[in-house]
Amino acid sequence: MLTEENIKKVEELKKRYPTKEALILPVLWMIQKQEGYISEESMKYVASLLNIPVGQILGVVTFYTMLKRKKTGKNHIEVCTNVSCMLRGSAKIMEHLEKRLGIKAGETSPDQKWTLSEAECMGSCGTAPMLAVGDEYYENLTIEKVDQLIEKLK
Ligand code: FES
Repeated sequence: MLTEENIKKVEELKKRYPTKEALILPVLWMIQKQEGYISEESMKYVASLLNIPVGQILGVVTFYTMLKRKKTGKNHIEVCTNVSCMLRGSAKIMEHLEKRLGIKAGETSPDQKWTLSEAECMGSCGTAPMLAVGDEYYENLTIEKVDQLIEKLK
């Protein structure tokens, strides 16, 4: 399931990491980069690759929200709805995005262009409200900034 190049990387990591459990996150991350999400088959694959029970892999995948269990659209918009962002208007940001994209939080557009999700705190509370698209953060959001972002991503 991993590319040959990634298998080589795993072999290198095995030399550097003290336990096989320490390899779970980097290997899952490689799979997500490759496939876009972590399927059940991928979890079984990682379990057999690292010789770790699949339940333990599932535990890691379900704990970290950065690990996706479903295929997402081309642009995955994650809106933080935790306390700081909520107090600074994340509900209005989410409502606006739902209206603009024509999908509800947790959905992917039929053309696979957009996925909209609620997210827990992403550690950017000082610049709330915020959202993330992949690895990029967009902070101190206003409705105007959200509109500009959608135009940029279109
Ligand atoms: S509460 Fe939104 S980033 Fe922390």
